[in-house]
Amino acid sequence: AGVFTYDPGFTSTAACDSTITFIDGNKGELLHRGYPIDQLAGKSHYLEVCYLLLYGELPTAAQLEDFEHRVTHHTMLHEQMVNFFRGFRRDAHPMAIMVGVVGAMSAFYHDSTDINDPWQREVASIRLIAKMPTIAAWAFKYHIGQPFVYPRNDLDYASNFLRMCFSVPAEEYEVNPVLSRAMDRIFTLHADHEQNASTSTVRLASSSGANPFACIAAGIACLWGPAHGGANQACLEMLREIGTPDKIPEYIARAKDKNDPFRLMGFGHRVYKNFDPRATVMKQSADEVLELLGVENNPILATAKELEKQALADPYFSEKKLFPNVDFYSGIILEAMGFPTSMFTPIFALSRTVGWISQWKEQLGDPQMKIGRPRQLYLGETERDYTDIEDR
Ligand code: CMC
Repeated sequence: AGVFTYDPGFTSTAACDSTITFIDGNKGELLHRGYPIDQLAGKSHYLEVCYLLLYGELPTAAQLEDFEHRVTHHTMLHEQMVNFFRGFRRDAHPMAIMVGVVGAMSAFYHDSTDINDPWQREVASIRLIAKMPTIAAWAFKYHIGQPFVYPRNDLDYASNFLRMCFSVPAEEYEVNPVLSRAMDRIFTLHADHEQNASTSTVRLASSSGANPFACIAAGIACLWGPAHGGANQACLEMLREIGTPDKIPEYIARAKDKNDPFRLMGFGHRVYKNFDPRATVMKQSADEVLELLGVENNPILATAKELEKQALADPYFSEKKLFPNVDFYSGIILEAMGFPTSMFTPIFALSRTVGWISQWKEQLGDPQMKIGRPRQLYLGETERDYTDIEDR
C-alpha cells in the first residue's frame, strides 16, 4: 500500500539537485556550470571542460597545466590488462569489451576504490578520464585484430586517441590537426548532459556505495542502447540501409506509420523540443571535416544530407518537434574519419565519462544522499493461498 506518484520514464521527476549542467529544452539551451555549450565547443577544449565539470570553475593556466599533466600521466593501462582484453571473443563489440574492462578496473586499482576518502575519489576520477581513450582504442584494435598501440604522452588528448586507433606497426602516423580538433569537439559536445539515462544509472549504482569503476561500467552498459548512445551507430546503419537518396521517402513514410516500429534514428530528443544546441555545432564540424577529407560524394553522407532536408520539411516531424540530434551528425563525422560504426558508441562513452564522474562526485558530497529506491504501482494478484502441485 502507499500512494506514489506514477512517472514511468521519469518525464517529470527530479531525482537530485545539481549544479553541473542546465538544459532548457524549449530554448535549446545547454550550459555547463553556466557556460553555453557553443562557447565551450568554440573557444575551449575537452580537458578544460573536464576541469570545469569536475571542479566547478574554469582553470587558471597553472591549474590547467597541472590537470593536463595528471591526466596525461595516467593514460597507461596495467600491462596485465592486456590479458583481460585477450579473453574476449576476437570479434567482440567494443562496447562489450568496455563494460567488462572498466568494471574490471576495480580489481586492478585497489588504491582508488574507497569512496569515503577524497584523495581516492580524486585518483579514481583522473584514472577514468585518462584511461578511457586507451581502453576505447584498445577495444577497437582488438575488435579489428590489430596490435595495441600504447599512449604517447607528448600528444594532446584527442590526437593521442586518434593515433592509438589508426596507427599501424612500421608506419608513421601523423595526426591531422583539423581531425584532432573535430575529435576534441565531439568529446566536448558529449561531456555531460545532466540526468540522462546513463548518468541516472551511474547515480543509482553509486547510491548503494558501489566503487567508481563498477558505477561507470553500469553507465556504459546503459549508454549502449539504441535509444541513447547507441543511436549514433543505429543512425549510420539506417543510412546504409536506405542506401541512396531516392529511397528516403519510403523510410520517412515508415517512420510516420504508427504500425511500424521503425523510427528515424538520430531524430528527436526527450528534452530538446526546438533544436539540440550540440547538433548545431556538430553540423558545422561535419561540414569542415567533409570538406577537408573531400568525401562530399560519399553516398551515405549524401543520403544523410537529403534525409535531413526532407524530414525537416515534413509536417509530421515539425509538429512532433523532432529535429536531428547530436548523434545524427557525430555519426557522419566519425564515418568520414574512418571509424567503423561499432566505435561510435565507445567514443560517446569515453567523452561522457567526465560527466558521469562529476555527477558521481557531486552525489557523494551531497549530505542528502540516500540509496535510490523507486517504488511501483503493483498490478498483480492480491493475496491467495498456495496450491499443492498435485492440485494444480
Ligand atoms: N522517428 C519517428 N517518430 C518519432 C521519433 C523518431 N525518431 N522520435 C519520436 N517519435 C514520435 C513518437 O512515435 C511519438 O509519437 P506519438 O506521440 O504519435 O506517439 C512522439 O514522437 C514522441 O516520442 P516519444 O518516444 O514519446 O518521446 P521520448 O521523449 O520518450 O523519446 C527519443 C525520445 C530520443 C528516445 C526518441 O525521439 C527516439 O527514439 N529517437 C530515435 C533515437 C535517437 O536518436 N536517440 C538519441 C537521443 S540524443 C542522444 C542520447 O540520448 O544519447
